[in-house]
Order: sequence, then C-alpha cells, then structure tokens
Amino acid sequence: MARRRIIAGNWKMNMTPSQAKELCATLKDLVANDAVDVVYCVPAIDITTVVEAVAGTNVKVGAENFYIEDKGAFTGEISAPMLKEAGVEYVIMGHSERRDIFGEDDILINAKVKKAFAAGLKPILCCGESLAVRKAGTYVDWVKRQITWDLYGVTADQVKELVIAYEPIWAIGTGETATADQAQEVCKMIRETIADLYDAATAEAVRIQYGGSMNAGNAAELLSKDDIDGGLIGGAALKPDFGQIVNA
Ligand code: PGA
Repeated sequence: MARRRIIAGNWKMNMTPSQAKELCATLKDLVANDAVDVVYCVPAIDITTVVEAVAGTNVKVGAENFYIEDKGAFTGEISAPMLKEAGVEYVIMGHSERRDIFGEDDILINAKVKKAFAAGLKPILCCGESLAVRKAGTYVDWVKRQITWDLYGVTADQVKELVIAYEPIWAIGTGETATADQAQEVCKMIRETIADLYDAATAEAVRIQYGGSMNAGNAAELLSKDDIDGGLIGGAALKPDFGQIVNA
C-alpha cells in the first residue's frame, strides 16, 4: 500500500491571530489538493482562529508543543486534551529547537509520544543531527538512538500512525538543504530501524518526512525519493510557496 504524502507547515513563533487568519486565506486555494495530507502546525494562541479558517477545506491543524499531564499546576503549559478539544489532530515533538533551547530530552519526548497517542493526537516526531555530529560521521547512529529512545514502549499499531520528521539541524533555517541523496540515506535508515524494532509491515506504513530549508525549488526532488513521504516546512510555510510544495 502506497503511503499518503504529508506536507506540514511548522509556523514556529510566527503569526499573530490576525496574521494567521490572513495566511490561511492566502493559502486556501494554493493548498487544495486532496491527494496530500496538508497540516498547519501553529502557535497555541492561533489554534482556534486557524481551526475556524480551514473548516471545510482539506487542511488539518497541528500544534507545536504540549505537556504530558492532563491538567494541574503547570504554569504556562497546555495539555493534550485541551488541544484535542480545540480541533487539533497532529502535534510536533522532539523538534531540535525544543531539545536545544528548552532542554527537552528523549525521556520527555518518549512520554509525549505515548501521551499524544493516548489522547487521540498524531505525533510528528522530529529527529536529526547537529553539524558536529554530521562531520564526525556518526549521524546514522545518532538518529537511530533518538528514534529507539523516543519510541520505547510505543506499540506497532501506534507507529503505523506515526509521522517521523528527519531534520538535520544544520539545514534548519539556514538555506542549506540536505541533498536529496543525503536526506534519502537517513530516511531509509530510519525505516530500517523501525523494521528492526518492530516488523516490515510497520516500517512500510510509517510516514517519514524531510525537514530543513525545504522550499518550492527543491521539494519535488526531495519528495521523489523512495523513503521521503513528505516535508516539515518552516520558513516556506509562511508564504505562497507552501502551495507549490504541497503540489510538488
Ligand atoms: P525550515 O524549518 O524549513 O525553516 O528550515 C524546518 C523546521 O524546523 O521544521
């Protein structure tokens, strides 16, 4: 069974609610493609606005973060049930900015993967190596270790619903994209890791995205690779270019 392509925008800390509404209107016709899963992962404050703005279209809404408890004394945090009730379907976890700037480790990320599934949200689990690790040549082991830890105790049926985003840190927001062959090499290795941890059917079902300076110019080549099932897009998700990526 062919895997369905999934193109997700990661808006990061951009777009006030009014700007979010405007962006949804700008992109509406450009992203109308029923053959592709299109997701906008947006700041928490924009979720309600974006859910309303994309109602009746092919676009799904995602969150950029959440905390693993359902409720309680966790000042500043937002829970999975809150996201679910607001109309969110996907949620990003393990992004390098959360790992590096906010100190999130694989133990927390693993708990987030399990919590998201328990709450009926689909995780977009990010992994990827720094430039130092890439240069040291140990990036395959690095990414394999992230995936293994992050999926500890996650079932095969859940992994079949999972989206994994391979995002080499040296390519995020830098304009320096991994070549299609570099991206394919790691995405293939991720699929092989899933086959080792689970089985061939699970590896065949899991969707793997590439992320890191994907844009209207390079998307088609990246997406033509066997093990790249979609993209997680930062900068280019805030512009009409996102429509070209959806249709690449
Ligand atoms: P970028 O970001 O497309 O701006 O490189 C991708 C990401 O961090 O998800």
